[in-house]
Amino acid sequence: MTRVSAEAAHPKRQVFSRDALAGRVALITGGSSGIGLGIADVFADLGANLVLTGRRPDKLEEAAERLAPSGARILTIASDVRDYAATQGVIERTVAEFGRLDVLVNNAAGNFNCPFEEMTPNGWRAVVDIDLNGTFNFCHTAFKALKASPYGGRIINISLAQVSSGWPGAAHAASAKAGVTALTRSLAVEWGPHGIRVNNVLPGPIEGTEGLRRLYEARGEGEKELNRMALGHFGETDDIGLSCAFLASPAGDFITGCDMTVDGGRWLKRSWT
Ligand code: COA
Repeated sequence: MTRVSAEAAHPKRQVFSRDALAGRVALITGGSSGIGLGIADVFADLGANLVLTGRRPDKLEEAAERLAPSGARILTIASDVRDYAATQGVIERTVAEFGRLDVLVNNAAGNFNCPFEEMTPNGWRAVVDIDLNGTFNFCHTAFKALKASPYGGRIINISLAQVSSGWPGAAHAASAKAGVTALTRSLAVEWGPHGIRVNNVLPGPIEGTEGLRRLYEARGEGEKELNRMALGHFGETDDIGLSCAFLASPAGDFITGCDMTVDGGRWLKRSWT
């Protein structure tokens, strides 16, 4: 892909120089599709080398092929964020292949719509295990590598604005992400002395993602959700990718413990009825 065609396809990326993330090694969980792949796409375009994890090797391969024209070095590792030992293995392989880790994006998430009284204990556990415990697993195992980053390590946790409003029909995800938000703030203070910046990015509904399709459109709620957007439209994966890039770049050097809400004003106009 030439620079001209990349800029035409992604006009918002022109606000960053093409080497904004040059030399940085970024690990993105759930990086093979949706918002995670969108973040990977932006990071690769801005010079980062990538490690992508996900549960399905075929989807990871497809993602790596799609990102290949960027010239980024990309390592894919099939792994479930719920498995602590596997997570340790991902970090070890990252350091073995790239020599270090600079940016960790905890993006992998599980969610489904279900009235609380019908949710089974296993359904609750599955989402809390992926969203909250998975974030624990990666933060915990990545600490040593992030501490050694010459740029100052970065953790970007993908959370939700619904951690403050609650999410009727997805109480498990809202509760798990509330835990993620609190973990972010705790680590920002605990790990500040090690130069590790820890922030949340809170996306709203993003066009073309499984989240929008499954949680709203497939249930005939797409139009209703659109009406909840202050800006009147859904976001693009680049909106989230570029916010993460800002936090991962030198522009984010003095930012830690913050919630970056990137949701088109969805949280303010949030009526659930
Ligand atoms: N409604 C009610 N319960 C559901 C459900 C739904 N739509 N989908 C899954 N569950 C329940 C299952 O019935 C099971 O509970 P049970 O054993 O008591 O029956 C439990 O959740 C675990 O489901 P399972 O499919 O075995 O788990 P998994 O580990 O394979 O998948 C999920 C995890 C459930 C989070 C699944 O939705 C997933 O893998 N999602 C990844 C993609 C995603 O959610 N992206 C985010 C979009 S915003």
